[in-house]
Amino acid sequence: MSGINWNECSVDFGEASYPYYFGEDCLDRIVASMAGYGADRFLVVTDDNVLQLHGEKLLPALARVAPVDVFSRPAGDGAKSLHNLGACLEQAIAAGASRQSVVVAFGGGVPGNLAGVVASLLFRGVRLVHIPTTTVAAMDSVISLKQAINSTHGKNHIGTYRTPEAVYFDAGLLSTLPSKQLRSGLCEATKNCLAIRPQSIAQMRDRLAAGDLASPQTLLWLLEESLEAKCSVMAQDTYEQRAGLILEYGHTVGHAVEMCDQRLRGSDGLSHGEAVMLGMLAAARISNAMGALDDAAVAVHEELARALGVGTEMPGGLLIEDVMDVVRVDNKRGYLTVSGEEAAMVLLGRLGVPLGSHDLPLTAVPLGIVKEAVATLVPDNQ
Ligand SMILES: NC(=O)c1ccc[n+]([C@@H]2O[C@H](COP(=O)([O-])OP(=O)(O)OC[C@H]3O[C@@H](n4cnc5c(N)ncnc54)[C@H](O)[C@@H]3O)[C@@H](O)[C@H]2O)c1
Repeated sequence: MSGINWNECSVDFGEASYPYYFGEDCLDRIVASMAGYGADRFLVVTDDNVLQLHGEKLLPALARVAPVDVFSRPAGDGAKSLHNLGACLEQAIAAGASRQSVVVAFGGGVPGNLAGVVASLLFRGVRLVHIPTTTVAAMDSVISLKQAINSTHGKNHIGTYRTPEAVYFDAGLLSTLPSKQLRSGLCEATKNCLAIRPQSIAQMRDRLAAGDLASPQTLLWLLEESLEAKCSVMAQDTYEQRAGLILEYGHTVGHAVEMCDQRLRGSDGLSHGEAVMLGMLAAARISNAMGALDDAAVAVHEELARALGVGTEMPGGLLIEDVMDVVRVDNKRGYLTVSGEEAAMVLLGRLGVPLGSHDLPLTAVPLGIVKEAVATLVPDNQ
């Protein structure tokens, strides 16, 4: 991205395709491009941090194109709620939204997902654009059609698929991102290396060792890696319901830990990526216990977690039974027939190779084995 003010690539997922524009300090170009939509108004979905840090850079310029309504909530996964979905839809309609309106997701994966569901439901579907401001959003959630909010029972239970008109990524917006959130996106990129592209593990190690994770070169490399990994599996599985489920590696236990931690500590808790990394450690140990993944591959997981600088244990206070309650209602249920005493999980047989089939990379895991793996994440002093 260094020296590149404006660039474009295409996200191609078989049936769906959309442009991904990226550059540095390019909000003027973004607004100029969005002026081409002929929108009668923009509904900007964001969170209070992003609004405070970057709202002034985008909103006045956008308002010169069409009226802007802002829906903002306190940051954190708790914002992905049915309550906020309803409130956002009502606000949009009260403000005068029409089928010609455009929903703008401005922020991380949380506002992005909420905006995606809103764009799907408002008048049975209006246009959606993403302006991601976190590594998770820029490198992961916008490279997917999945849009979801949480139920009170678990993560991403209520959702839709929505193809955006475009993604606009201004790397300059990431200059304010705390290191913890920067690393969060790198955890998802590490997942892609472990589960899909082990040939990239060496380069990931080098990048992590070199530091300067926010450099434009590193961000560009991450973006290219993520597009390569995700498009390779989604070319044949646009909706991530078969081969694309490999992208859920680490997410069964990861989502459960994320949700339990969110209930305890709100937005001060684990980042999404940190939770997924814990979920990958659990998945690797489960696969190892089931005689599939060898010790060396498990050690690679642990080494990368340390290199990422993220924790290898759950935060104190999280209870194994609470985590297991969320695992039991994981949103992958139903893709694979499992008994009430099993969870359908993505496991690896080798690095880059799922256990089970490439076409449906899920394994029925006895809940007792999952629980033992979750127990390995409990801090020694708890
Ligand atoms: N396929 C998908 O749709 C998909 C994929 C991955 C993750 N997700 C979802 O995305 C969410 C996680 O995304 P996230 O990690 O971006 O969370 P997030 O949106 O909560 O952002 C993380 C934190 O960073 C702050 N922030 C955002 N941009 C900032 C900036 N430029 N400077 C300073 N602070 C900034 C936010 O206010 C928040 O506190 C989860 O809900 C997860 O389920 C969805």
